[in-house]
Amino acid sequence: MKRVHQRLLDWYETDGRHALPWRNTRNMYHIYLSEIMLQQTQVNRVRDEYYPQFLEKFPSLEALAKAPQEKVLGAWSGLGYYSRARNLHKTAQLVQTELPKTEKELLLLPGIGRYTASAICSFGHEQTIPVVDTNIARVIKRYFALLEPKEKLVWEKATTFVNAQAPRAHNLALMDLGSLVCLPKNPKCSECPLEVVCLGKEEPELYTQRKKTIYESLDLFYGICIKDGKIALELSKEKMYKDMLVLPRVEPLEDDFLTVFKHSYTKYRLQVHLYRLEEVDENFTWQALQTLEDAPISSLTKKALMCLDLS
Ligand code: ADE
Repeated sequence: MKRVHQRLLDWYETDGRHALPWRNTRNMYHIYLSEIMLQQTQVNRVRDEYYPQFLEKFPSLEALAKAPQEKVLGAWSGLGYYSRARNLHKTAQLVQTELPKTEKELLLLPGIGRYTASAICSFGHEQTIPVVDTNIARVIKRYFALLEPKEKLVWEKATTFVNAQAPRAHNLALMDLGSLVCLPKNPKCSECPLEVVCLGKEEPELYTQRKKTIYESLDLFYGICIKDGKIALELSKEKMYKDMLVLPRVEPLEDDFLTVFKHSYTKYRLQVHLYRLEEVDENFTWQALQTLEDAPISSLTKKALMCLDLS
């Protein structure tokens, strides 16, 4: 094992993604934030846009805890999976100044599951524990030739593979190997430091679970009501967009049709139809068009406003 560990570390040294900002800090809040953002969102988008901007607005857990939820959701606007932001905020309010240092305690906090708890403890505290995200899981499944294993088994195998001499670098190396070399399709086995001992190298694609996403097509109809430079928005009634401001839903009104556009969100393939709306009832919030930048709106709403050239 020692030799394999060293080969992996050598590869990480030369080919790993060392410049990622959350890998160059021991600030636990920064590490925690990055892990929440990186769930479901691409590394470059987090690194270049959302992570630095969020930290500028909420530089510490205390600052985050004190902020109104609307501002937190506003900083998350466009990132999707908004429960992440609500849970981040709740966690900040629960812990106030400092996150706990053990996986067990972290797991009790909203929005922190096994992956996030272990990532915080491994990358932040250098604890000798395994970390398994989707990329690492693929490496482990191939390396140990596990055909459709239960998640528990993957964690167990990752545990046997932990490098007690360099647990943090080992986990980061596995993560990078999964995202740069051990790709779901056409993995670059000839570039892999684990190739010699990998049990799955003959047929790597056998170990890639192909969970087919079943897409749902949906038509949505929204109204645009603007008065005195303000637009009518309402607090969403849908769980997915809880506490976000959304455009009013309307029945399709042929006469007042404005435009239609396509939008994808999670498993939905949407056709969004926009209509001019003259009046809304008093349940609506009037949001100044100039303040939309920081408002808790989804990328669908942003796109609608861009289509109409309003923002
Ligand atoms: N470095 C530490 N955690 C990471 C993650 N979740 N994705 C990419 N790089 C990381």
